[in-house]
Amino acid sequence: MASVAQNELMTCIGPGTAAGAILRSYWQPVALSEELDGARPVRPVNILGERLVLFRDPEKGLGLINRTCSHRGADLCYGRLEHGGLRCPFHGWLFDVTGQCIEQPAEPDSSTLYKRVKQVSYPVVEKNGVIFGFMGKGALPKLPNLDCLTAPNSHSFAFKGLVDCNWLQLLEVGIDPAHASFLHRFLEDEDGEEGYGLQFRDNVNDIPMTKLLRNFYRPEIKVEKTDFGHRLIALRNLDNRGMHVRVTNQVFPNAIHIPLSNEMTLTQWHVPISDIKSYWYAMFTSFGEPVDQKRMREQRLELYELPDYVPKKGKHNNYGYNESEQATETYTGMGFDINVHDQWAVESQGAIQDRTREVLASSDVGITEYRKSLIKAIGSHKDRKTRNFSRREHEVPIAIDVIAPIDDWEKSWLAADVDRRENSSWIND
Ligand code: FES
Ligand SMILES: [Fe+2]
Repeated sequence: MASVAQNELMTCIGPGTAAGAILRSYWQPVALSEELDGARPVRPVNILGERLVLFRDPEKGLGLINRTCSHRGADLCYGRLEHGGLRCPFHGWLFDVTGQCIEQPAEPDSSTLYKRVKQVSYPVVEKNGVIFGFMGKGALPKLPNLDCLTAPNSHSFAFKGLVDCNWLQLLEVGIDPAHASFLHRFLEDEDGEEGYGLQFRDNVNDIPMTKLLRNFYRPEIKVEKTDFGHRLIALRNLDNRGMHVRVTNQVFPNAIHIPLSNEMTLTQWHVPISDIKSYWYAMFTSFGEPVDQKRMREQRLELYELPDYVPKKGKHNNYGYNESEQATETYTGMGFDINVHDQWAVESQGAIQDRTREVLASSDVGITEYRKSLIKAIGSHKDRKTRNFSRREHEVPIAIDVIAPIDDWEKSWLAADVDRRENSSWIND
């Protein structure tokens, strides 16, 4: 439970807010590279309560600048992409990728006014299909030390989805290991082969993940503080078959890093558009075979509408809820795509969850610990006493599922990760 003031402190993200300042201190995904495919690479970007425009100049690269023209406020998303920048169609002012005005064609030839006009702009970098922007103050931080950012493009895939709620409740799903045994429960098991690129569909050793989560629904959850954020270890004692160890991570402030399958991991950022809308950005990384990007994209395009990555199942159609399916096939009755389940869970909490009315339990330990860190970071940032922990180089978070001997599980998951890295083609190149 949180007070009204704490809830506001943690959830409001616009310019000048406390949580907004924390999120702005880190690189944030602002778009997928594929959004700039096509003849005219210009896209609106709404992020952290700011309205921006992203464009790719063929020579000068990417620009992320304020969407409102400095002259008299017209919308630069309708700009002409030409001559080294984005030109406002109202009076032809031209802005380069840094936001600097470089031409004002209606002004006298001798005018130098253009030199003193600059749009707000933010630095951007592009990695494996995701464009990141930095909206904070001061020196540029390093990108986080994550496998999805160092893997070759062939071994990664990126996608995103729109969710109608505040960013924090979206993040809190990813640090809640208990919900997988309920929200994502399948009453019958599926053939693991059908589950390529999907979560909770692999087998761990010989046991289907769906069965393991269904039958062992009371995990012991351990949370460890690390220099990137938090490591969550969910232990399910499978009696004589060993200990199932699922290691997931919270990468401060708004990302999670989890296992997807035996050879893939998923890193997901929960990025506020406004206080009541968010995008999740997902980067999938394979340690084994190259990722079948075409198949992964087709799977997701069956569920999301472009250009805004709006889910086809949502509040408007009751998330596809079907009561006979709920009786016989899935715990939710909302189909087999776990994104739909998560989306229902977070949107049904309300646009901003009222945390003054919740009852946190022992299985919510990940959420409790994370909130403490967020509130502490907000305090430190305000007092400028310390820098946030993951602005410096940090260890690479490990996300893995293993079944280990009950008395040796702590070493086993680390050993399994070493093994995976030793056998990976791209790590050892
Ligand atoms: S409003 Fe953009 S050039 Fe005049
Ligand atoms: Fe989930």
